[in-house]
Amino acid sequence: MHDGVFAEARIFIVDDEPANVRILERLLKQEGYTDLVTFTDPHEVMPRYEETPPDIVLLDLLMPHVDGFEIMRRIAEHTGPATRPPVIVLTADATRQARERALAGGAMDFVTKPFDHLEVLLRVRNLLARHFLELDLWDHNRVLESRVAERTRELQDSLDRLRETSRERQDLARRLVTAQEEERRRIAADVHDGPVQAVVALGMRLELLARRLADPGERTEMERIRATLADALTGLRTLMVELRPLTLGRDGLEAALREHQTRMEATGGPVVSLIADLRSEPPADAQAVLFRIAQEALANVRKHAAASRVTVTLADDGEGARLSVRDDGRGFDLARATEPGHLGLATMHERATLAGGWCRFESEPGAGATVTAWIPFAPAEPGSSG
Ligand SMILES: Nc1ncnc2c1ncn2[C@@H]1O[C@H](COP(=O)(O)OP(=O)(O)OP(=O)(O)O)[C@@H](O)[C@H]1O
Ligand SMILES: [Mg+2]
Repeated sequence: MHDGVFAEARIFIVDDEPANVRILERLLKQEGYTDLVTFTDPHEVMPRYEETPPDIVLLDLLMPHVDGFEIMRRIAEHTGPATRPPVIVLTADATRQARERALAGGAMDFVTKPFDHLEVLLRVRNLLARHFLELDLWDHNRVLESRVAERTRELQDSLDRLRETSRERQDLARRLVTAQEEERRRIAADVHDGPVQAVVALGMRLELLARRLADPGERTEMERIRATLADALTGLRTLMVELRPLTLGRDGLEAALREHQTRMEATGGPVVSLIADLRSEPPADAQAVLFRIAQEALANVRKHAAASRVTVTLADDGEGARLSVRDDGRGFDLARATEPGHLGLATMHERATLAGGWCRFESEPGAGATVTAWIPFAPAEPGSSG
């Protein structure tokens, strides 16, 4: 008894001898096969094959006009090996030579005439089972291939989107840095035009007033007021420079750092050694980020480190510049340094990351502290290595 898929298998029986065709047809029908197509004229085989291909072909080799070899050749031409139906050759010639020739021509198996019924049924059943498995496999492969293609497309899309997002993020980061610098420039200009001018004007009026004072006590008091005012003016000017060091845009990073070093040393230290070794000026964005990181690192040294020396180094490193600020002060516990309300370390890290680089801190209580940052000259393209 056959299950559905075998019973419905389409079987071609091709033999120019009608008696042979009848025997095979009856045998297979008895076994339960229902879709049998018989031919005694070999000319009719291929047109029918092209209409609806069979699942197996029982094929006589020796026929007039179109022999079995020719039919096998045309089948191979029409159908690729993955889905080609198996051919069982029916032959009266049981010699080894005849078998080899049939195998070379594309046959999968033989039955010799006169037919042994059991042998025919077994061979048909085996080859059909194998053919159906091959078809399943082929289907399966096609599904897999299309899934792989689909996943590849999806991955490519994700990668494209990721690249796009990353480009947007880089762009945003650059605009953020520029906007921050713009804002600082604006505030510096406002300080210059407003409070600085007011304090200067106030100083001149006080000077005029001072000339009119005769009482020595009042004159001394006036001098004190004027000295306080001069301090306030110096403070405002320092604020302006720190907000927007003109040197940075005009003379470059090293010059701006030297100016900062001089100002620090002139206002209470510590002593700063600046070792700068850059082949060329970094782009403006990178300069601003490096300067702001150095500025905050040095402010920290001054506020917290009680250091006697601080060394600032600036050097090319790959496609970017590396800055380090190392002090010999009291150091600190990194784990406890990120308290709320203290923004310096977090801001340095954030600036560097936004610019596509990195910033690291090393310190231990009693062993000084080092801030190291690397900023790329051009923002990295996502997907590129490094
Ligand atoms: N060079 C240093 N030497 C010793 N301690 C430091 C040094 N740099 C930072 N610290 C410690 O790390 C803490 C965090 O530094 P951070 O710059 O984040 O904040 P802050 O300087 O206290 O405040 P802010 O920078 O927000 O004005 C500091 O309060 C200080 O205790
Ligand atoms: Mg700080």
